[in-house]
Amino acid sequence: MTRSLVIAIDGPAGTGKSTVARGLATALGARYLDTGAMYRIVTLSMLRRGVDLGDTSAIAASAEQVELAVGHDPAEDRSYLAGEDVSAEIRGDAVTKAVSAVSAVPAVRTRLVALQRALTDGPGRVVVEGRDIGTVVLPDADVKIFLTASAEERARRRNEQNVAAGLPDDYAGVLADVERRDHLDSTRAVSPLRAADDAVVVDTSDMTQAEVIAALTELVEEKAGAAR
Ligand code: DC
Repeated sequence: MTRSLVIAIDGPAGTGKSTVARGLATALGARYLDTGAMYRIVTLSMLRRGVDLGDTSAIAASAEQVELAVGHDPAEDRSYLAGEDVSAEIRGDAVTKAVSAVSAVPAVRTRLVALQRALTDGPGRVVVEGRDIGTVVLPDADVKIFLTASAEERARRRNEQNVAAGLPDDYAGVLADVERRDHLDSTRAVSPLRAADDAVVVDTSDMTQAEVIAALTELVEEKAGAAR
């Protein structure tokens, strides 16, 4: 059996984190856990139930009832709410706009962090992607990676994706949104976004995703070899 190896990947939106984390998991033959998807499923559930997103205790009470599940195959992005496949819906605009408010509620984080720990326990290799994996969820992870890129570069990439998806070309609007989300995620009271002291910080501004995946695969294999 493959020795357990836990790889934490954190960083803000727009660094190519999801693609890189999936590519790394595939290259390592590892399972993959997208913790952002879990916050998105909870958020979708709140939106559907009409929970007032300004009411922290209503969010906390409602979060306890959410029945969520996520897939572990890096090649397939699968998220479920009470058994329903909501993989596409959780990536939509409504959830993306509301998720920062929901993920800032301590009771939501407590519940999801416990679930994330349970899901990543056990033998084998696992790549876990999020914002607080190396700092809070799995502080004992074998390898911690923190991906960064300038806000301008992240906005440029996101705007390019939007245009490719048929949305309007709006670099200034996207940049404002990236900066707003960065601010919310890094200043919230519980688990603000920051690199763990022992994380390897990788700036992806001038790298292709293939280059980032190759560099990280090498880094992880080196660490795994050294630990053997
Ligand atoms: O990575 P993403 O865009 O799917 O994340 C969605 C939101 O969830 C984002 O606002 C940050 C938040 N999040 C979090 O607070 N902690 C995590 N471990 C993962 C995501």
